[in-house]
Amino acid sequence: MKVTIVGAGAVGASCAEYIAIKDFASEVVLLDIKQDFAEGKAMDLMQTASLNGFDTRIIGTTNDYSRTADSHIAVITSGIPRKPGMTREELIGINAGIVKDVTQNLLKYSQNVILIIVSNPMDTMTYLVHKLTNLPKNRIIGMGGALDSARFKYRIAEAIPCPSSDISAMVIGGHSDKGMLPLTRLATRNSVRISEFLSQEKLHEISEATKVGGATLTKMLGTSAWYAPGAAVSSLVHSIACDQKKIYPCSALLSGEFGLSDLCIGVPVVLSKNGIEKIEEICLNEDELEKLLLSAEGVKATNSLLNDLNL
Ligand code: 2OP
Repeated sequence: MKVTIVGAGAVGASCAEYIAIKDFASEVVLLDIKQDFAEGKAMDLMQTASLNGFDTRIIGTTNDYSRTADSHIAVITSGIPRKPGMTREELIGINAGIVKDVTQNLLKYSQNVILIIVSNPMDTMTYLVHKLTNLPKNRIIGMGGALDSARFKYRIAEAIPCPSSDISAMVIGGHSDKGMLPLTRLATRNSVRISEFLSQEKLHEISEATKVGGATLTKMLGTSAWYAPGAAVSSLVHSIACDQKKIYPCSALLSGEFGLSDLCIGVPVVLSKNGIEKIEEICLNEDELEKLLLSAEGVKATNSLLNDLNL
């Protein structure tokens, strides 16, 4: 199983590290445009192999896409991250062109690859990749909901308090401060509804903190976060690589599901060796559905900006 990660910045490198530590891939190729940067990250990571006990081979390359040939999965993290005070949507002008180039280069060498898009604004970048490639929709996956859900679980666990591993919870909708929809009603602590442990007021507070989870960290770190994004991507890669069929909320192209079409937005999907095996059209209540539709309007408004970009 060969995995390529384009962009050896903090998110790409941390994703490579988590994949290696889980030790399910034979090879990870890290590619970056900055001379020797990916090679350096790969070498540094490979020097942890004997310490961390993994056999995954990590290779770095400066923009040589031939080294990515025959990848099963490719993760696109390229582009600029947010700075404090910026929204993810503000990155579209620069990142759309980069994502387009990267996608075209990857497909030259790996025609059957499954693509995972991380670059922001992620839902729109995922939609762009669909529009550019026309690949089957199971092979293009946007990573946002898995990360937002991990942040949601963290907030719930801190509030109860209990270990995050005791919490099952999901965030769907757009991967944006306004568009996220933490599904508080469905969240459980080891199958007990979290409303048994936390007041409605607290749950509202947790939900709001989750939605600005990325912005909060960007303010604290001066750039966007990387550990949880890297771990979230590695979990999606793991489910696909090992045909685990786990459910994660991912940005998927919708064609009528939840009453939505012609956009990519976070919904629960089953991830198998085929990529998106199935979109799970879970039963949402009226309020949740209304919020999802509002979120979709926001994503569509960002998608419409692609028309002005001359791509
Ligand atoms: C985040 O929320 C990178 O969009 C990503 O941290």
